[in-house]
Amino acid sequence: MGQTLTEKILDDHLVEGELTPGEEIGIEIDQVLTQDTTGTLVWLQFEALDLDEVQTELAAQYCDHQTYQFDFKNTDDHRFLRSAAGTFGAHFSRPGNGICHNVHKENFAAPGKTMLGSDSHTPTPGGLGELAIGAGGLDVAVAMGGGAYYIDMPEVVSVRLEGELPDWATAKDVILELLRRLSVKGGVGKVLEYTGPGVETLTVPERTTITNMGTELGATSSIFPTDEQTEDYLERLGREDEFVEIGPDEDAEYDDEIVVDLSDLEPLIAQPSMPDNVVPVTEVEGVDVEQVMIGSCTNGAYEDILPSAKMLEGRNIDKKTEMIVAPGSKQASEMLAREGWTAEMMAAGVNFSEATCGACIGIGHVPASDSVSLRTFNRNFEGRSGIEDDNVYLCSPEVATAAAIAGEIIDPRNLADELGDLDAPGLEMPDSYIGNSESDLIAPDDAVDDELIKGPNIGDVPLKDPLETEVGGEALLKMEDNITTDHIIPATQDILMYRSNVPKLSEFTLSRVDDTFAQRALDADGGVLVAGENYGQGSSREHAALCPMYLGIETVLAQSFARIHKANLFNFGIVPLTIDEETYEKIEQGDDIEVVDDAAEAVKSGQTEFTIRVNDDWEATGQLDASEREREILAAGGKLSHTKMQHDEG
Ligand code: F3S
Repeated sequence: MGQTLTEKILDDHLVEGELTPGEEIGIEIDQVLTQDTTGTLVWLQFEALDLDEVQTELAAQYCDHQTYQFDFKNTDDHRFLRSAAGTFGAHFSRPGNGICHNVHKENFAAPGKTMLGSDSHTPTPGGLGELAIGAGGLDVAVAMGGGAYYIDMPEVVSVRLEGELPDWATAKDVILELLRRLSVKGGVGKVLEYTGPGVETLTVPERTTITNMGTELGATSSIFPTDEQTEDYLERLGREDEFVEIGPDEDAEYDDEIVVDLSDLEPLIAQPSMPDNVVPVTEVEGVDVEQVMIGSCTNGAYEDILPSAKMLEGRNIDKKTEMIVAPGSKQASEMLAREGWTAEMMAAGVNFSEATCGACIGIGHVPASDSVSLRTFNRNFEGRSGIEDDNVYLCSPEVATAAAIAGEIIDPRNLADELGDLDAPGLEMPDSYIGNSESDLIAPDDAVDDELIKGPNIGDVPLKDPLETEVGGEALLKMEDNITTDHIIPATQDILMYRSNVPKLSEFTLSRVDDTFAQRALDADGGVLVAGENYGQGSSREHAALCPMYLGIETVLAQSFARIHKANLFNFGIVPLTIDEETYEKIEQGDDIEVVDDAAEAVKSGQTEFTIRVNDDWEATGQLDASEREREILAAGGKLSHTKMQHDEG
């Protein structure tokens, strides 16, 4: 049986397991990407590995999420990231040089490679045939240290494209159509592989808009085969030598198939406040619009802004509507400026921002209260724009620009009829892309720094020792059911600003449950946590395991664990033991807990039942449900220690 493109790339990089959906596989990673909000911790974790340089073919550090440097902590973070990239051999993209996915696509994404990135829209380069996956910071640090990335083998779904996009329908409408049909959960556990005759009608920039927003479907990744369009794009970038022709075998079998006829598509729009709340634009025409934003990693490329500029040539935007363009990369900005399009848009009433994520995560250009903002971004979750009661719609640059001209939501086809002289701009590629300034995208060989520069808000990440024979301590805190990762480490801005300072952040551990906990844990030199059902539910926040580890927590006894948090406990070397209701009821805060078995031996040998002695008085049983690999990681003291151990062993 032939292979899908996804299977081919995974097969080429497979270090463990078999390509059976649902089975765990380990793959080798060629490239890694980090950004500023996740990158500091990634590099601190990498530093703890004690390696001289990154082990992947390529690593790139971008500063894109928080570029405005309104606080010394941001600027310190950026300087630290530059020094880490220089010290360990990664490319460094300065604040203002652009959004990680745009800059990566323009400079490094290459067919057939695997990439891991600490950002959820990492799959963007799938438009060039790279298999790219978003992951947690720890996984990225481990990959940079040469460790494999482990994942359950996803199902591979063929998204068969037929026909050709009509005027005014765009790549954004392709992905909005998929969101309309499949919902934000439709891609979970799947790689969406684009196939069929419609593929060759789409340019690479259109393909990357689609792969970027595969994340909104919950997909593990999205990928296109490579062809003349890919070769053409790489040629215009001056990177033609990186072209490789790859695609599925003719007799490849997919786990599922979805068919989209491009010729049936029309301008679509996602209404507040979910990316899958999609309707044709005609259904919401007439809604007043106070703000229009063009940009983000989805639609911030030169090819996305140019249609908007053409629509605005010689016109003015409506007086009650503000329009801001935040280019995805400085390269796009520079090209538009050199060709005179920036001036044309400014003359129409548009303002330009530096190339940044910014407004996409509520940093700058926050909409007025109870107003409508049309954005070409990928997410419109309530409050994400920076104001709780926002009304953010997601659409193509063409639909957004039509609204800026009309002052209200309007299908651009109807606006064209009204105006009489508005042509569909279509997609135009530049003859060649000008390069990034060497000062903005700094190659490892040109690095400015060769040692780490840590400001006062950057604290070291501790490496945990291998699991000891004796595990236990005082039951420092007994908690109820449904403790969330938000209870463990609150996600408020005043606390999360310490995300690069684990000692400081740890002071807030479980403060929402008991604000004396962190100090008591430090005084007692660690101990045990006791919880009811569903401990650690909520977000996948790694700090919710890292901070308890820093405070010396050795084991958590809970009636049940949320899946992702349990994986994080393994990753940070904390033993998650399941106890029954009777044991939970009987244990009191302050009790002395001792795991009787030789913990290190028991974990390694595959033992599932552990004897727990309480106050040297009575005994109960704790269950350890872990795979062989999770046991190895736990015994080593967590994932980082495990990676370091593998290096030390040679
Ligand atoms: Fe940045 Fe928004 Fe994309 S935060 S990486 S522009 S999803």
